[in-house]
Amino acid sequence: MDAAALADLALDIAREAGALARRRRAEGVAIAATKSALADIVTEADREVETLIRARLDEARPDDGFLGEESGAERGTSGITWVVDPIDGTVNYAYGMPHYAVSIAAVEGEPEPSAWSWLVGVVHNPAVGETFTATRGEGAFLDGQRIAVSEVGAAGALLATGFGYDPATHAGDLARLARVMPLARDIRRAGAASLDLAYVAAGRLDGYFERGLHPWDHAAGALLVEEAGGVVSGLPGGRPGRAMTVAASVSLHARLLDAIGE
Ligand code: IPD
Repeated sequence: MDAAALADLALDIAREAGALARRRRAEGVAIAATKSALADIVTEADREVETLIRARLDEARPDDGFLGEESGAERGTSGITWVVDPIDGTVNYAYGMPHYAVSIAAVEGEPEPSAWSWLVGVVHNPAVGETFTATRGEGAFLDGQRIAVSEVGAAGALLATGFGYDPATHAGDLARLARVMPLARDIRRAGAASLDLAYVAAGRLDGYFERGLHPWDHAAGALLVEEAGGVVSGLPGGRPGRAMTVAASVSLHARLLDAIGE
């Protein structure tokens, strides 16, 4: 199966999963468990949507690996791994804010995220009916229309960030924010990392940075940003991940990394 076929599969599954998330939201959502922190929650819908996505992938691609936020990792034999956040922005979802997404990526080069090559990324917000898609080498799209990162290179950037769940990291998050603020027209903390990255890809945000992301938070969005002409990295020389994820146009990315510092 080529990358275009993987992309079609991811898109179909993301839409079906998004429809399920929306239905469950309409029926009323309860927080099923609090995980590492008050902001780190899971609802029954997160679990049900991930189960659906996993079942569809198993039917279509039984030899592929899987890494999901709610059900963990399973090695495959095909060299392709699916990286899934069934509902990214679970706090928004639980509170009825229409800013959450199903995020599905196909990557090559298991098992280490640092060795992955992103092949396909789909970020679907069922609440507003928007779908961002990218396939390696083929560009990035919003509902079929090509998108590109903005070209804001200096002061006046609209930036987004997020805060890690571990309270021990909050002082560092705030100090970093203070260093970055002089570059910014304004800052958003919208609550769904995959959509933050998709919005950078679409030029709705000029840049984004966050510490503490897991692969399922950023894999699909990172490919969207790259395919929209932007850059995604970790700290200088590193890949995006727990230590840091920074996404922006080429020129703003360098300025952001400088401001973020260590
Ligand atoms: C979270 C969101 C949030 C980000 C957290 C993520 P979840 O994902 O993307 O914006 O700040 O780091 O874990 O838990 O809602 O799937």
